[in-house]
Amino acid sequence: MSTLIDGIGMLFDGHVEHLDAAVVVEGERIAWVGPSSEAPACDERHDVGRRCVIPGFVDSHAHLVFAGDRTFEFNARMSGQSYTAGGIRTTVEATRSAGEAELATRAASLVEEMTAQGTTTVEIKSGYGLTVEDERRSLEIATSLTDETTYLGAHVVPAGADADEYVRTVTGEMLRACAPYAKWVDVFCERGAFDGDQTREILQAGIKAGLLPRVHANQLTEGPGVRIAVELDAASADHCTHLTDADVDALASSNTVATLLPGAEFSTRSPYPDARRLIDAGVTVAIATDCNPGSSFTSSMPFCVALAVREMGMTPMEAVRAATYGGARALRRDDIGLVRAGARADLVVLDAPSFVHLAYRPGVPLVRQVWRAGERVR
Ligand code: NIG
Ligand code: FE
Repeated sequence: MSTLIDGIGMLFDGHVEHLDAAVVVEGERIAWVGPSSEAPACDERHDVGRRCVIPGFVDSHAHLVFAGDRTFEFNARMSGQSYTAGGIRTTVEATRSAGEAELATRAASLVEEMTAQGTTTVEIKSGYGLTVEDERRSLEIATSLTDETTYLGAHVVPAGADADEYVRTVTGEMLRACAPYAKWVDVFCERGAFDGDQTREILQAGIKAGLLPRVHANQLTEGPGVRIAVELDAASADHCTHLTDADVDALASSNTVATLLPGAEFSTRSPYPDARRLIDAGVTVAIATDCNPGSSFTSSMPFCVALAVREMGMTPMEAVRAATYGGARALRRDDIGLVRAGARADLVVLDAPSFVHLAYRPGVPLVRQVWRAGERVR
């Protein structure tokens, strides 16, 4: 079965814009992209009425398995308190006391929210369980929602635990229980969470168990996170808010993507990362939501694109590219994030004549249709 998606006013494929374009979808894949006037005959024709089409968003950083919320903490921050890693423990307590069905339903409804806003691939981390069984069940829930699952037993040291003993659990029993459900291993490398030596040890144990590394790096302070990410060829160093020139140079000469999470700076009222500096140095940049109840409770990639343009020095084209192609690179995927023949048919039809409207009309629900693997899902 072939479907012609036609009438596209503008198609933005991550690198270039095409005007008056059409896309042919066959099964789960894109079979052809080109000018409308040259489109081949297809079984079905679907007219999108001269709207802009972009690749589905790739949200490469999200924490969706949790219970409770932290409205109180957000409110306190907006009255002048500052964000610390310690708030994570509040969510850990709520998550441990919640039943599996509740956690699964809440995570699924966040994925629903994301889909409605154009996200067609999402990465989901554990990290609010912090016991062997609570981490394992978080990842089991995550695997029911995505292939991009991340073991984040090293989110913080749980209340009352000894740090060295906890690292032994994270690299031992917990890793053995979680590895079958995870593709990635991640560590929150930060003051108040895990230091450089612990980060390296945990990532290396994960790699030995067959997982691929990614790192929460340099969010709240300068530190060793980015350097360790590059050293271990991590797919991504996430946050990258406080970088030295050496960090930027290391990223620029590596295969590690800098994933920027402007929702976190928005929600913690902190200075934004300098995307311009990274792009100008030749670093591949991704944008993701970091959806979590503490530092960034947004599921909206369009919101993050608008923030990236307004607050991080990115052009609309760079921001939309970072939210699609960049996210795919951060997950080491080459089958998503671009509209081109052979890619998975993940497409978003915007109620707008140009992708620029994602930043130009912030907060307006512009996602009109969502196609995932060749199927219309919204
Ligand atoms: O990416 N940085 C660590 N983890 C989350 C915050 C989690 C929380 O505050 O609950 C983040 O911002
Ligand atoms: Fe995070």
